[in-house]
Amino acid sequence: MELGIAGKNAIVCASSKGLGKACALALAREGVNVLICGRTVATLERAAEEIRAAGDGKVQAVQADVTQNEGRDRLLTACPAPDILVNNAGGPPPGDFRDWRQEEWFKALNANMYSAIDLIRRCLDGMVERRFGRIVNITSIGVKMPVPNLGLSNGARSGLCGFVAGIAREPAEHNVTINNLLPGYIATDRMWQVVENAAQSSGQDKEPFQQAMFGRIGAKRPGEPEEFAAVCAFLCSARASYVTGQNLLVDGGLYPGTF
Ligand SMILES: NC(=O)c1ccc[n+]([C@@H]2O[C@H](COP(=O)([O-])OP(=O)(O)OC[C@H]3O[C@@H](n4cnc5c(N)ncnc54)[C@H](OP(=O)(O)O)[C@@H]3O)[C@@H](O)[C@H]2O)c1
Repeated sequence: MELGIAGKNAIVCASSKGLGKACALALAREGVNVLICGRTVATLERAAEEIRAAGDGKVQAVQADVTQNEGRDRLLTACPAPDILVNNAGGPPPGDFRDWRQEEWFKALNANMYSAIDLIRRCLDGMVERRFGRIVNITSIGVKMPVPNLGLSNGARSGLCGFVAGIAREPAEHNVTINNLLPGYIATDRMWQVVENAAQSSGQDKEPFQQAMFGRIGAKRPGEPEEFAAVCAFLCSARASYVTGQNLLVDGGLYPGTF
């Protein structure tokens, strides 16, 4: 399928590693000019080299913290008229909700809800004027299948999805869509860290714990970042013009429900 987005300009947030990097790579392979970002310069530069070598589009690497106004300013200064915006940020820590006060909640809400909302606010009207826009928010399977000790993530990301549901219909008549992409277990540094922490706190050995955990997935394995990124690229494509306001799982069949 020809995705029809060669020459478009994309901002992909939190993209020096993991899901964000895979999405930037998938877009670059389609000829999209991508702006990637992260806080650590060395990782960011390595990712930019990798994407330049593999993709067709131009690659800009901008050191920026997407959870800060100043960081988001930097992204929009470098790419003032994005056609594609992929929102992403690091995930909040696990824990017991009894231990979380205003500071912990504000931090999670800022990183995993407000930062995306602010970039949507600043990009949407330009997309509408230009009659093309694709916004994809990377959230989590926790939105549909909450994990008890990831309450900060469940709460903040569900808030973002609720907000998106309220605004995603209106710009669709101008060929601007907004969707959320919900990863299950996708093999990134973050995922392995989460699995290792969970094994440790359960007191079980890593191997049998992982087997049991991945055994619950229909595909019986974690996903590859490229498998996640392929879905992101499709949602960002010209072909996906009639898909908006959706919460799409990329989880290999982990979520057991009908809807
Ligand atoms: N992988 C999964 O299975 C999975 C499942 C559900 C949800 N998620 C969520 O998806 C998101 C991405 O996860 P991942 O697995 O790709 O994580 P990852 O492998 O740890 O990669 C995170 C990337 O984001 C960058 N980043 C983090 N915070 C940032 C910030 N404030 N500003 C700019 N860049 C930032 C990191 O670079 P720097 O640290 O250098 O900034 C890195 O490039 C997270 O929110 C995670 O919780 C992942």
